[in-house]
Amino acid sequence: MQIREAEFLMSNTRVDQCPAPTLPEYAFIGRSNVGKSSLINMLTERRGLAKTSSLPGKTQLINHFLINKQWYLVDLPGYGYAKTSKVNRVAWTRMINFYLRQRLNLACVFVLIDSRHPAQTVDLEFMEMLGTEGIPFVMVFTKADKQSNSRTQLQVSDYMKKMSENWDEVPQHFITSAEEKTGREELLAFIENVNRQ
Ligand code: GTP
Ligand code: MG
Repeated sequence: MQIREAEFLMSNTRVDQCPAPTLPEYAFIGRSNVGKSSLINMLTERRGLAKTSSLPGKTQLINHFLINKQWYLVDLPGYGYAKTSKVNRVAWTRMINFYLRQRLNLACVFVLIDSRHPAQTVDLEFMEMLGTEGIPFVMVFTKADKQSNSRTQLQVSDYMKKMSENWDEVPQHFITSAEEKTGREELLAFIENVNRQ
């Protein structure tokens, strides 16, 4: 798929103020600093479209981007940032829970996972919740450029093993690098395919 147009639409805290749910929507979620905003820029080939930072906690709102006037990409704030206050954590949970459960046009959630670490409880629990709620999702391993392919495969296998302990079917997964554009074609082909359904 070619990205002809990518435009920032709006930032929100409330699902009822998001754009009309008339187009398929793909949301990027995962731990703070995992590379959600960077991956949106890599997919769209627009360097500063989503705001990135080397410090965790950069993205704070539900951000909508309209792609090719046909579908939405959504950049969400990250979870699991240890230094955030309890009040912030509660606010995040409320906002995201409402968004995930009430957004009618949500076609798929991309759960981003840092490929450098073995399976983390916070990620496993988040995916457990998505599975239980019946919210469609795939796993996206990020920052693959930071280590060897074999090391990445080891961490991916660790996740797949842990996921298969609780679920008959393990979700589809992608391996990406925003730096090297790894996984771009695969992710866009996946989106194109879901858009057609
Ligand atoms: P929050 O909005 O704070 O939750 O973070 P985020 O998940 O949106 O992460 P962001 O895209 O802002 O990236 C965090 C840091 O990781 C930045 O310094 C990026 O340059 C870096 N980064 C993101 N993706 C990659 C990647 O694929 N490879 C490398 N080497 N660095 C990356
Ligand atoms: Mg971000």
